[in-house]
Amino acid sequence: MIKRSFRDKLLKIADKIGVERKKKCAAPKRSSLQRNQQNEIDLPPVFLNLGIDFGTRFTKVCYRDVAQEKSAVVHFGANRSDIDEALLPSVILCSGEGELLELSTGFTKKELVDRRKPDDQVISYIKMRLAQFDLHDNETEWLSRNHEVFTSIKSIEAICTFFLAQVIKKTKDAILDRGNGLYSRRQIVWSANVGVPVEYCDSPAIDRFKRVLACAWQLSESLDDRPVLLKHLLSRINHLKNNGTVQEVDCHAIPEIAAGIQSFLTSREAREDIYIFIDIGSGTLDGVSFRYYRRDGEPRVSFFSGKVGPQGVNAVAEKIAFNTGLPPEEVEKSLFNHVIGDVDSDFIVKNAQAELKQIQTLVVKVLKMAKEKDPLGISSDNHSNLKVFIGGGGGKSDFFQNTILSTYNNRQLDRLKIPSFTLKQAPVPEDLAMAGFDEEYFHRFAIAYGLSVPPAEHADYKLPSEIDSVASMNPRPLMLDPGVVPYENSKDCC
Ligand SMILES: Nc1ncnc2c1ncn2[C@@H]1O[C@H](COP(=O)(O)OP(=O)(O)OP(=O)(O)O)[C@@H](O)[C@H]1O
Ligand SMILES: [Mg+2]
Repeated sequence: MIKRSFRDKLLKIADKIGVERKKKCAAPKRSSLQRNQQNEIDLPPVFLNLGIDFGTRFTKVCYRDVAQEKSAVVHFGANRSDIDEALLPSVILCSGEGELLELSTGFTKKELVDRRKPDDQVISYIKMRLAQFDLHDNETEWLSRNHEVFTSIKSIEAICTFFLAQVIKKTKDAILDRGNGLYSRRQIVWSANVGVPVEYCDSPAIDRFKRVLACAWQLSESLDDRPVLLKHLLSRINHLKNNGTVQEVDCHAIPEIAAGIQSFLTSREAREDIYIFIDIGSGTLDGVSFRYYRRDGEPRVSFFSGKVGPQGVNAVAEKIAFNTGLPPEEVEKSLFNHVIGDVDSDFIVKNAQAELKQIQTLVVKVLKMAKEKDPLGISSDNHSNLKVFIGGGGGKSDFFQNTILSTYNNRQLDRLKIPSFTLKQAPVPEDLAMAGFDEEYFHRFAIAYGLSVPPAEHADYKLPSEIDSVASMNPRPLMLDPGVVPYENSKDCC
Protein backbone atom coordinates (compact mmCIF):
# COMPACT_ATOMS: atom_id res chain seq x y z
CA MET A 1 0.00 0.00 0.00
CA ILE A 2 2.92 2.35 0.63
CA LYS A 3 3.69 4.53 -2.37
CA ARG A 4 7.07 3.30 -3.54
CA SER A 5 8.16 6.78 -4.52
CA PHE A 6 7.77 7.99 -0.93
CA ARG A 7 9.61 5.03 0.55
CA ASP A 8 12.36 5.34 -2.04
CA LYS A 9 12.67 9.01 -1.17
CA LEU A 10 13.08 8.13 2.51
CA LEU A 11 15.68 5.50 1.78
CA LYS A 12 17.56 7.91 -0.45
CA ILE A 13 17.62 10.51 2.34
CA ALA A 14 18.74 7.80 4.76
CA ASP A 15 21.48 6.63 2.39
CA LYS A 16 22.62 10.15 1.78
CA ILE A 17 23.01 10.88 5.48
CA GLY A 18 24.76 7.53 6.03
CA VAL A 19 27.22 8.06 3.17
CA GLU A 20 28.07 11.56 4.28
CA ARG A 21 28.78 10.38 7.82
CA LYS A 22 30.97 7.55 6.55
CA LYS A 23 32.98 9.95 4.41
CA LYS A 24 33.53 12.32 7.32
CA CYS A 25 34.62 9.53 9.65
CA ALA A 26 36.72 7.48 7.23
CA ALA A 27 40.18 8.95 7.94
CA PRO A 28 41.37 8.09 11.49
CA LYS A 29 42.28 4.51 12.50
CA ARG A 30 39.90 3.17 15.11
CA SER A 31 39.84 0.45 17.78
CA SER A 32 37.30 -2.40 17.34
CA LEU A 33 35.12 -0.86 20.09
CA GLN A 34 35.26 2.45 18.34
CA ARG A 35 34.48 0.68 15.07
CA ASN A 36 31.43 -1.02 16.62
CA GLN A 37 30.22 2.25 18.05
CA GLN A 38 30.85 3.94 14.74
CA ASN A 39 28.83 1.23 12.95
CA GLU A 40 25.87 2.12 15.12
CA ILE A 41 26.30 5.78 14.32
CA ASP A 42 26.62 4.90 10.64
CA LEU A 43 23.18 3.29 10.65
CA PRO A 44 20.69 5.29 8.62
CA PRO A 45 18.27 7.48 10.58
CA VAL A 46 14.91 6.12 11.68
CA PHE A 47 11.77 7.93 10.56
CA LEU A 48 9.14 7.66 13.27
CA ASN A 49 5.70 9.10 12.72
CA LEU A 50 3.37 9.57 15.70
CA GLY A 51 -0.37 9.16 15.23
CA ILE A 52 -2.11 11.12 17.99
CA ASP A 53 -5.84 10.49 18.36
CA PHE A 54 -6.76 13.51 20.46
CA GLY A 55 -10.02 12.24 21.94
CA THR A 56 -12.68 14.12 23.85
CA ARG A 57 -12.06 11.86 26.81
CA PHE A 58 -8.98 9.77 26.04
CA THR A 59 -5.99 10.37 23.81
CA LYS A 60 -4.52 7.30 22.17
CA VAL A 61 -1.18 7.12 20.35
CA CYS A 62 0.40 4.76 17.82
CA TYR A 63 3.72 5.25 16.09
CA ARG A 64 5.13 3.95 12.84
CA ASP A 65 8.61 3.09 11.69
CA VAL A 66 8.04 4.51 8.23
CA ALA A 67 10.78 2.62 6.39
CA GLN A 68 9.79 -0.71 8.00
CA GLU A 69 6.07 -0.01 7.41
CA LYS A 70 5.27 -1.20 10.93
CA SER A 71 3.12 0.55 13.53
CA ALA A 72 2.70 -0.08 17.25
CA VAL A 73 0.35 1.03 20.00
CA VAL A 74 2.13 3.26 22.54
CA HIS A 75 1.85 1.94 26.06
CA PHE A 76 2.77 4.36 28.86
CA GLY A 77 2.93 2.15 31.93
CA ALA A 78 4.57 -0.95 33.30
CA ASN A 79 1.50 -3.22 33.30
CA ARG A 80 1.22 -4.48 29.73
CA SER A 81 -2.15 -6.12 30.16
CA ASP A 82 -3.82 -2.97 31.47
CA ILE A 83 -5.51 -1.09 28.62
CA ASP A 84 -5.84 1.98 30.86
CA GLU A 85 -2.09 2.47 30.55
CA ALA A 86 -2.48 3.22 26.86
CA LEU A 87 -5.20 5.81 27.46
CA LEU A 88 -4.26 9.37 28.38
CA PRO A 89 -7.26 11.26 29.75
CA SER A 90 -7.61 14.49 27.71
CA VAL A 91 -7.76 16.70 30.80
CA ILE A 92 -5.79 19.38 32.59
CA LEU A 93 -5.20 19.24 36.34
CA CYS A 94 -5.49 22.67 37.82
CA SER A 95 -4.49 23.98 41.27
CA GLY A 96 -4.18 27.38 42.93
CA GLU A 97 -5.83 30.56 41.76
CA GLY A 98 -5.25 33.83 39.95
CA GLU A 99 -1.58 34.58 39.27
CA LEU A 100 -0.64 31.26 40.87
CA LEU A 101 -2.94 29.07 38.81
CA GLU A 102 -0.83 26.00 38.13
CA LEU A 103 -1.44 23.37 35.45
CA SER A 104 -0.25 19.82 34.88
CA THR A 105 -1.28 17.21 32.32
CA GLY A 106 -0.28 14.21 30.19
CA PHE A 107 -1.11 11.51 32.76
CA THR A 108 -2.43 7.99 32.35
CA LYS A 109 -5.70 7.25 34.15
CA LYS A 110 -3.81 5.77 37.09
CA GLU A 111 -1.27 8.62 37.30
CA LEU A 112 -4.14 11.10 37.30
CA VAL A 113 -5.71 9.42 40.33
CA ASP A 114 -2.34 9.38 42.14
CA ARG A 115 -1.46 13.00 41.29
CA ARG A 116 -4.80 14.63 41.93
CA LYS A 117 -5.00 16.46 45.26
CA PRO A 118 -8.36 17.07 46.96
CA ASP A 119 -8.52 20.75 45.94
CA ASP A 120 -7.42 20.22 42.34
CA GLN A 121 -9.87 20.82 39.54
CA VAL A 122 -9.99 18.64 36.46
CA ILE A 123 -10.65 20.56 33.25
CA SER A 124 -12.19 18.13 30.78
CA TYR A 125 -13.56 18.27 27.20
CA ILE A 126 -10.58 20.39 26.12
CA LYS A 127 -10.84 19.26 22.49
CA MET A 128 -14.50 20.31 22.27
CA ARG A 129 -13.63 23.64 23.88
CA LEU A 130 -11.07 24.20 21.13
CA ALA A 131 -13.49 23.29 18.34
CA GLN A 132 -16.47 25.24 19.69
CA PHE A 133 -15.04 28.62 18.66
CA ASP A 134 -15.40 27.70 15.01
CA LEU A 135 -18.45 25.43 15.12
CA HIS A 136 -20.86 27.77 16.92
CA ASP A 137 -22.72 24.73 18.12
CA ASN A 138 -25.60 25.47 20.51
CA GLU A 139 -25.11 22.14 22.20
CA THR A 140 -21.74 23.12 23.65
CA GLU A 141 -23.15 25.36 26.43
CA TRP A 142 -22.38 22.59 28.89
CA LEU A 143 -18.69 23.27 28.32
CA SER A 144 -18.85 26.39 30.44
CA ARG A 145 -19.44 24.27 33.54
CA ASN A 146 -15.75 24.04 34.34
CA HIS A 147 -13.28 26.69 35.38
CA GLU A 148 -14.26 30.20 34.32
CA VAL A 149 -10.64 31.10 33.46
CA PHE A 150 -10.76 28.76 30.50
CA THR A 151 -13.29 30.51 28.36
CA SER A 152 -11.07 32.78 26.23
CA ILE A 153 -9.64 31.54 22.93
CA LYS A 154 -6.12 32.27 24.12
CA SER A 155 -6.37 30.23 27.31
CA ILE A 156 -8.13 27.28 25.63
CA GLU A 157 -5.54 27.21 22.87
CA ALA A 158 -2.85 27.33 25.55
CA ILE A 159 -4.20 24.39 27.57
CA CYS A 160 -4.67 22.27 24.42
CA THR A 161 -1.12 23.16 23.32
CA PHE A 162 0.16 22.18 26.75
CA PHE A 163 -1.75 18.89 26.73
CA LEU A 164 -0.56 17.88 23.26
CA ALA A 165 3.01 18.94 24.07
CA GLN A 166 3.03 16.65 27.14
CA VAL A 167 1.53 13.82 25.05
CA ILE A 168 4.27 14.24 22.43
CA LYS A 169 6.99 14.30 25.08
CA LYS A 170 5.58 11.32 26.96
CA THR A 171 5.21 9.36 23.72
CA LYS A 172 8.78 9.99 22.62
CA ASP A 173 10.04 8.97 26.08
CA ALA A 174 7.93 5.78 26.04
CA ILE A 175 9.17 4.80 22.56
CA LEU A 176 12.81 5.41 23.47
CA ASP A 177 12.47 3.59 26.84
CA ARG A 178 10.77 0.53 25.38
CA GLY A 179 12.74 0.34 22.15
CA ASN A 180 15.25 -1.96 23.93
CA GLY A 181 18.10 0.12 22.57
CA LEU A 182 16.79 -0.22 19.02
CA TYR A 183 16.90 3.50 18.53
CA SER A 184 19.87 4.35 20.71
CA ARG A 185 22.76 5.97 18.85
CA ARG A 186 20.56 6.49 15.80
CA GLN A 187 19.27 9.74 14.56
CA ILE A 188 15.48 9.78 14.84
CA VAL A 189 13.52 11.93 12.44
CA TRP A 190 10.19 12.54 14.18
CA SER A 191 6.93 13.67 12.61
CA ALA A 192 3.31 13.59 13.79
CA ASN A 193 -0.30 13.54 12.68
CA VAL A 194 -3.18 14.59 14.87
CA GLY A 195 -6.79 13.68 14.09
CA VAL A 196 -9.52 16.22 13.60
CA PRO A 197 -13.22 15.30 13.13
CA VAL A 198 -14.08 15.39 9.44
CA GLU A 199 -16.65 18.15 9.84
CA TYR A 200 -13.99 20.40 11.40
CA CYS A 201 -11.75 19.73 8.39
CA ASP A 202 -14.26 21.53 6.24
CA SER A 203 -14.36 24.46 8.67
CA PRO A 204 -11.95 27.09 10.03
CA ALA A 205 -11.44 24.79 13.05
CA ILE A 206 -8.83 22.92 11.00
CA ASP A 207 -6.43 25.90 11.00
CA ARG A 208 -6.82 26.30 14.74
CA PHE A 209 -5.97 22.61 15.29
CA LYS A 210 -2.95 22.89 12.95
CA ARG A 211 -1.64 25.94 14.79
CA VAL A 212 -2.08 24.35 18.20
CA LEU A 213 -0.38 21.13 17.10
CA ALA A 214 2.59 22.90 15.52
CA CYS A 215 3.06 24.99 18.64
CA ALA A 216 2.71 21.90 20.89
CA TRP A 217 5.45 20.18 18.89
CA GLN A 218 7.82 23.07 19.59
CA LEU A 219 6.79 23.39 23.22
CA SER A 220 7.33 19.66 23.85
CA GLU A 221 11.06 20.14 23.30
CA SER A 222 11.43 22.38 26.33
CA LEU A 223 9.04 20.70 28.77
CA ASP A 224 9.69 18.62 31.84
CA ASP A 225 7.20 16.82 34.10
CA ARG A 226 6.75 19.75 36.47
CA PRO A 227 3.51 21.74 36.56
CA VAL A 228 3.56 25.20 34.95
CA LEU A 229 1.90 28.43 35.92
CA LEU A 230 -0.75 29.49 33.38
CA LYS A 231 0.85 32.93 33.03
CA HIS A 232 4.24 31.32 32.21
CA LEU A 233 2.62 28.94 29.74
CA LEU A 234 0.96 31.84 27.93
CA SER A 235 4.21 33.77 27.65
CA ARG A 236 6.19 30.69 26.46
CA ILE A 237 3.60 30.03 23.75
CA ASN A 238 3.66 33.67 22.75
CA HIS A 239 7.42 33.53 22.47
CA LEU A 240 7.31 30.39 20.27
CA LYS A 241 4.74 31.94 17.95
CA ASN A 242 6.74 35.13 17.62
CA ASN A 243 10.06 33.50 16.80
CA GLY A 244 8.54 31.93 13.66
CA THR A 245 9.80 28.31 13.99
CA VAL A 246 6.27 27.01 14.68
CA GLN A 247 5.50 27.11 10.93
CA GLU A 248 8.31 24.69 10.05
CA VAL A 249 7.46 21.57 12.05
CA ASP A 250 6.49 18.31 10.37
CA CYS A 251 3.02 17.93 11.93
CA HIS A 252 -0.26 17.48 10.12
CA ALA A 253 -3.93 17.66 11.07
CA ILE A 254 -5.75 14.80 9.33
CA PRO A 255 -9.47 13.93 9.26
CA GLU A 256 -9.96 11.30 11.97
CA ILE A 257 -12.24 9.33 9.79
CA ALA A 258 -9.72 9.13 6.91
CA ALA A 259 -7.39 7.63 9.50
CA GLY A 260 -10.18 5.43 10.88
CA ILE A 261 -10.73 3.64 7.57
CA GLN A 262 -7.01 3.02 6.96
CA SER A 263 -7.11 -0.48 8.48
CA PHE A 264 -10.04 -1.36 6.22
CA LEU A 265 -8.28 -0.03 3.11
CA THR A 266 -5.28 -2.28 3.65
CA SER A 267 -7.37 -5.34 4.52
CA ARG A 268 -8.55 -8.17 2.30
CA GLU A 269 -12.10 -6.93 2.81
CA ALA A 270 -11.41 -3.79 0.78
CA ARG A 271 -13.53 -4.16 -2.35
CA GLU A 272 -14.61 -1.28 -4.57
CA ASP A 273 -17.90 -0.22 -3.04
CA ILE A 274 -19.72 2.30 -0.85
CA TYR A 275 -19.36 2.04 2.93
CA ILE A 276 -20.40 3.79 6.11
CA PHE A 277 -17.98 4.29 9.02
CA ILE A 278 -19.21 5.41 12.43
CA ASP A 279 -16.85 6.30 15.27
CA ILE A 280 -18.61 6.20 18.63
CA GLY A 281 -16.39 8.22 20.92
CA SER A 282 -16.91 9.61 24.39
CA GLY A 283 -18.22 13.05 23.44
CA THR A 284 -19.05 12.69 19.77
CA LEU A 285 -20.50 10.39 17.20
CA ASP A 286 -18.80 10.81 13.82
CA GLY A 287 -20.35 9.26 10.73
CA VAL A 288 -19.13 9.23 7.14
CA SER A 289 -20.11 7.57 3.92
CA PHE A 290 -17.43 6.94 1.36
CA ARG A 291 -16.76 5.22 -1.89
CA TYR A 292 -13.58 3.17 -2.16
CA TYR A 293 -12.27 2.52 -5.64
CA ARG A 294 -9.01 2.10 -7.53
CA ARG A 295 -7.76 4.01 -10.53
CA ASP A 296 -4.53 3.10 -12.27
CA GLY A 297 -3.85 0.65 -9.45
CA GLU A 298 -4.00 3.41 -6.80
CA PRO A 299 -6.60 3.29 -4.02
CA ARG A 300 -8.94 6.29 -3.87
CA VAL A 301 -11.62 7.37 -1.47
CA SER A 302 -14.41 9.87 -2.01
CA PHE A 303 -16.05 10.92 1.25
CA PHE A 304 -19.62 11.80 0.32
CA SER A 305 -20.70 13.05 3.71
CA GLY A 306 -19.38 13.57 7.20
CA LYS A 307 -21.41 14.44 10.28
CA VAL A 308 -20.37 14.98 13.88
CA GLY A 309 -22.96 15.01 16.65
CA PRO A 310 -22.63 15.37 20.43
CA GLN A 311 -23.93 11.83 20.92
CA GLY A 312 -20.81 10.03 22.18
CA VAL A 313 -21.14 7.46 24.99
CA ASN A 314 -20.55 9.85 27.89
CA ALA A 315 -22.55 12.67 26.38
CA VAL A 316 -25.55 10.32 25.97
CA ALA A 317 -25.01 8.73 29.41
CA GLU A 318 -24.99 12.14 31.08
CA LYS A 319 -28.24 13.16 29.43
CA ILE A 320 -29.97 9.91 30.43
CA ALA A 321 -28.58 10.27 33.94
CA PHE A 322 -30.06 13.76 34.10
CA ASN A 323 -33.47 12.44 32.93
CA THR A 324 -33.55 9.47 35.29
CA GLY A 325 -31.58 10.65 38.31
CA LEU A 326 -29.29 7.60 37.98
CA PRO A 327 -25.50 7.95 38.39
CA PRO A 328 -23.88 8.60 34.94
CA GLU A 329 -21.32 5.80 35.50
CA GLU A 330 -24.11 3.23 35.93
CA VAL A 331 -25.96 4.51 32.88
CA GLU A 332 -22.71 4.32 30.87
CA LYS A 333 -22.23 0.68 31.87
CA SER A 334 -25.80 -0.17 30.99
CA LEU A 335 -25.22 1.21 27.48
CA PHE A 336 -22.75 -1.66 27.13
CA ASN A 337 -25.39 -3.98 28.59
CA HIS A 338 -23.42 -4.43 31.82
CA VAL A 339 -26.38 -4.15 34.12
CA ILE A 340 -25.58 -3.14 37.67
CA GLY A 341 -27.96 -3.27 40.63
CA ASP A 342 -31.38 -1.89 39.73
CA VAL A 343 -30.39 -0.34 36.41
CA ASP A 344 -32.28 -2.21 33.73
CA SER A 345 -31.20 -1.64 30.13
CA ASP A 346 -34.84 -1.58 28.87
CA PHE A 347 -35.50 1.21 31.34
CA ILE A 348 -32.44 3.03 29.99
CA VAL A 349 -33.62 2.65 26.38
CA LYS A 350 -37.08 3.97 27.34
CA ASN A 351 -35.45 7.05 28.84
CA ALA A 352 -33.09 7.54 25.93
CA GLN A 353 -35.64 8.10 23.18
CA ALA A 354 -34.48 11.66 22.42
CA GLU A 355 -30.82 10.54 22.15
CA LEU A 356 -31.81 7.48 20.13
CA LYS A 357 -33.63 9.72 17.65
CA GLN A 358 -30.67 12.09 17.37
CA ILE A 359 -28.30 9.20 16.64
CA GLN A 360 -30.66 7.83 13.99
CA THR A 361 -31.07 11.29 12.46
CA LEU A 362 -27.29 11.56 12.13
CA VAL A 363 -27.14 8.16 10.41
CA VAL A 364 -29.96 9.16 8.04
CA LYS A 365 -28.22 12.47 7.19
CA VAL A 366 -25.01 10.64 6.33
CA LEU A 367 -26.93 8.22 4.10
CA LYS A 368 -29.08 10.84 2.41
CA MET A 369 -26.04 12.94 1.51
CA ALA A 370 -24.34 9.86 0.04
CA LYS A 371 -27.50 9.08 -1.91
CA GLU A 372 -27.64 12.64 -3.19
CA LYS A 373 -24.03 12.52 -4.36
CA ASP A 374 -24.19 9.04 -5.83
CA PRO A 375 -27.79 7.84 -6.24
CA LEU A 376 -26.99 4.71 -8.24
CA GLY A 377 -23.97 3.72 -6.13
CA ILE A 378 -26.05 3.45 -2.98
CA SER A 379 -29.16 1.73 -4.23
CA SER A 380 -30.89 -1.47 -3.15
CA ASP A 381 -31.27 -2.19 -6.88
CA ASN A 382 -27.50 -2.73 -7.06
CA HIS A 383 -26.63 -3.93 -3.55
CA SER A 384 -28.16 -6.45 -1.18
CA ASN A 385 -26.54 -4.84 1.86
CA LEU A 386 -24.48 -1.89 2.97
CA LYS A 387 -21.47 -2.48 5.24
CA VAL A 388 -21.41 -0.18 8.25
CA PHE A 389 -18.08 -0.21 10.12
CA ILE A 390 -18.18 0.88 13.73
CA GLY A 391 -15.27 1.88 15.91
CA GLY A 392 -14.31 4.02 18.89
CA GLY A 393 -14.73 3.20 22.58
CA GLY A 394 -18.50 2.89 22.11
CA GLY A 395 -18.13 0.53 19.15
CA LYS A 396 -18.97 -2.46 21.34
CA SER A 397 -21.97 -0.84 23.03
CA ASP A 398 -25.22 -2.80 22.58
CA PHE A 399 -27.24 0.40 22.82
CA PHE A 400 -25.33 2.10 20.00
CA GLN A 401 -25.20 -1.00 17.81
CA ASN A 402 -28.96 -1.62 18.17
CA THR A 403 -29.77 2.06 17.64
CA ILE A 404 -27.75 2.18 14.41
CA LEU A 405 -29.17 -1.10 13.10
CA SER A 406 -32.77 -0.19 13.88
CA THR A 407 -32.43 3.10 11.99
CA TYR A 408 -33.23 1.14 8.84
CA ASN A 409 -36.73 0.09 9.89
CA ASN A 410 -37.52 3.06 12.13
CA ARG A 411 -36.80 5.50 9.34
CA GLN A 412 -38.16 3.29 6.54
CA LEU A 413 -34.95 3.52 4.57
CA ASP A 414 -36.19 0.85 2.16
CA ARG A 415 -38.45 3.55 0.71
CA LEU A 416 -35.32 5.50 -0.25
CA LYS A 417 -33.97 2.35 -1.91
CA ILE A 418 -31.11 2.21 0.59
CA PRO A 419 -29.77 -1.35 1.07
CA SER A 420 -30.15 -2.92 4.54
CA PHE A 421 -27.16 -2.68 6.93
CA THR A 422 -24.55 -5.17 8.08
CA LEU A 423 -22.51 -3.98 11.11
CA LYS A 424 -18.79 -4.74 11.05
CA GLN A 425 -15.88 -4.03 13.36
CA ALA A 426 -12.83 -2.41 11.70
CA PRO A 427 -10.36 -5.20 10.71
CA VAL A 428 -7.11 -5.46 12.70
CA PRO A 429 -4.20 -4.53 10.40
CA GLU A 430 -1.32 -6.94 9.96
CA ASP A 431 1.31 -4.22 10.32
CA LEU A 432 0.25 -3.17 13.83
CA ALA A 433 1.83 -4.44 17.06
CA MET A 434 -0.77 -4.15 19.83
CA ALA A 435 1.83 -3.64 22.62
CA GLY A 436 0.65 -6.80 24.36
CA PHE A 437 -3.08 -5.96 24.30
CA ASP A 438 -5.66 -8.34 22.97
CA GLU A 439 -6.79 -7.60 19.41
CA GLU A 440 -10.32 -7.11 20.70
CA TYR A 441 -9.15 -3.63 21.79
CA PHE A 442 -8.17 -2.60 18.28
CA HIS A 443 -11.35 -0.51 17.91
CA ARG A 444 -9.91 1.84 20.56
CA PHE A 445 -6.77 2.42 18.44
CA ALA A 446 -8.13 2.32 14.88
CA ILE A 447 -7.81 6.09 14.45
CA ALA A 448 -4.40 6.37 16.13
CA TYR A 449 -3.17 3.53 13.89
CA GLY A 450 -4.39 5.31 10.73
CA LEU A 451 -2.81 8.55 11.92
CA SER A 452 0.53 6.80 12.42
CA VAL A 453 0.57 6.11 8.68
CA PRO A 454 2.17 9.16 7.01
CA PRO A 455 -0.04 11.14 4.59
CA ALA A 456 2.02 9.96 1.60
CA GLU A 457 0.95 6.36 2.31
CA HIS A 458 -2.76 7.22 2.57
CA ALA A 459 -5.13 6.59 -0.28
CA ASP A 460 -5.91 9.77 -2.22
CA TYR A 461 -9.07 11.09 -0.67
CA LYS A 462 -11.54 13.86 -1.29
CA LEU A 463 -13.51 15.47 1.51
CA PRO A 464 -17.30 15.94 1.26
CA SER A 465 -16.96 19.60 0.26
CA GLU A 466 -14.70 18.54 -2.62
CA ILE A 467 -17.18 16.13 -4.17
CA ASP A 468 -19.82 17.55 -6.48
CA SER A 469 -23.34 16.33 -6.09
CA VAL A 470 -24.18 14.02 -8.97
CA ALA A 471 -27.87 14.72 -8.51
CA SER A 472 -27.26 18.45 -8.88
CA MET A 473 -25.42 18.02 -12.18
CA ASN A 474 -27.24 18.15 -15.45
CA PRO A 475 -26.27 16.33 -17.59
CA ARG A 476 -25.02 13.64 -15.17
CA PRO A 477 -21.26 13.05 -15.62
CA LEU A 478 -19.90 9.97 -17.31
CA MET A 479 -19.98 7.02 -14.91
CA LEU A 480 -16.96 4.77 -14.79
CA ASP A 481 -18.81 2.16 -12.76
CA PRO A 482 -22.37 2.42 -11.59
CA GLY A 483 -22.43 5.46 -9.36
CA VAL A 484 -18.75 6.45 -9.53
CA VAL A 485 -18.04 10.08 -10.18
CA PRO A 486 -14.85 10.23 -12.27
CA TYR A 487 -12.07 11.33 -9.95
CA GLU A 488 -11.04 14.01 -12.43
CA ASN A 489 -14.52 15.56 -12.14
CA SER A 490 -14.36 15.97 -8.40
CA LYS A 491 -13.10 19.30 -7.09
CA ASP A 492 -9.41 19.70 -6.43
CA CYS A 493 -8.05 19.26 -2.92
CA CYS A 494 -7.33 22.53 -1.18
N1 LIG B 1 -11.56 0.10 29.13
C1 LIG B 1 -12.21 1.23 28.93
N2 LIG B 1 -11.84 2.36 29.58
C2 LIG B 1 -12.46 3.51 29.39
N3 LIG B 1 -13.50 3.67 28.54
C3 LIG B 1 -13.93 2.60 27.86
C4 LIG B 1 -13.32 1.33 28.00
N4 LIG B 1 -13.94 0.48 27.16
C5 LIG B 1 -14.92 1.17 26.54
N5 LIG B 1 -14.92 2.44 26.97
C6 LIG B 1 -15.82 3.47 26.46
O1 LIG B 1 -15.09 4.22 25.53
C7 LIG B 1 -15.51 5.57 25.58
C8 LIG B 1 -14.44 6.47 25.06
O2 LIG B 1 -14.23 6.14 23.72
P1 LIG B 1 -13.08 6.80 22.88
O3 LIG B 1 -11.77 6.60 23.55
O4 LIG B 1 -13.25 6.32 21.49
O5 LIG B 1 -13.52 8.32 23.01
P2 LIG B 1 -12.72 9.63 22.64
O6 LIG B 1 -11.88 9.33 21.44
O7 LIG B 1 -12.07 10.15 23.85
O8 LIG B 1 -13.91 10.60 22.27
P3 LIG B 1 -14.28 11.36 20.90
O9 LIG B 1 -14.04 10.40 19.78
O10 LIG B 1 -15.71 11.71 21.12
O11 LIG B 1 -13.41 12.56 20.83
C9 LIG B 1 -15.80 5.80 27.03
O12 LIG B 1 -16.79 6.75 27.13
C10 LIG B 1 -16.31 4.43 27.52
O13 LIG B 1 -17.71 4.40 27.51
MG1 LIG C 1 -12.28 9.44 19.37
